[in-house]
Amino acid sequence: FNSRLLDGVHLTITAGPTREAIDPVRYISNHSSGKMGYALASAAADAGARVSLISGPTNLPCPDRVQRIDVVSATDMHNAALAVMGQCQVFIACAAVADYRPVNCADQKIKKDNESMRIDLVRNPDIVAAVANHAQRPFTVGFAAETQDLLHYARDKLQRKNLDMIVANDVANTSIGFNANDNAVTVVTPGGEQSIAQMGKNQLAVQLIALIAQEFHCSQS
Ligand code: C5P
Repeated sequence: FNSRLLDGVHLTITAGPTREAIDPVRYISNHSSGKMGYALASAAADAGARVSLISGPTNLPCPDRVQRIDVVSATDMHNAALAVMGQCQVFIACAAVADYRPVNCADQKIKKDNESMRIDLVRNPDIVAAVANHAQRPFTVGFAAETQDLLHYARDKLQRKNLDMIVANDVANTSIGFNANDNAVTVVTPGGEQSIAQMGKNQLAVQLIALIAQEFHCSQS
């Protein structure tokens, strides 16, 4: 029973997709449901943490005892993360942030006047890397959703983004990952790795929060 694992710890989680506006009525987005991030927020609150959930648009109710900060675009999520990061000790990046956004958002609805059209895109900021590279960085956890060479990419991201932990998840398997109710992961830290077998996202979240709490407390001592 781990109800006191994160007592007094302020933890921030990003969750869900982002939407990148093309014009006032259209956007680019992805299929993230937000389920994993919301399950982590709920499990962290149960473990005693003060939880800020920076959420892109989802259909999920805000878990009890969680403060939700609603955002739409990656730029909004980046600003919200930088605003809370000075006060939090643990940061978990679970959001499926759009990698690119349209260079310009049209003021008016774009009309279908042409047979083809182009939308120029520009890279979005890497939110978790920005948090992890900050001078007063919190204990920072990322996710890696991959369809091949999972552990290779996860180890690479751990190092490149300067993370304390990365949760690797094989999205080629449709029974886990995006929109599924189950997940199975390998947790990678600089010191080693550990697999967690397939189970419901809520149950997995409890196990992940226990592991994050353990690693966080070790990093403090
Ligand atoms: O590089 P990639 O998108 O695969 O990395 C995934 C991890 O980085 C996730 O933890 C995700 O939330 C985070 N991320 C982010 N900002 C981005 C892109 C990814 O925080 N712009």
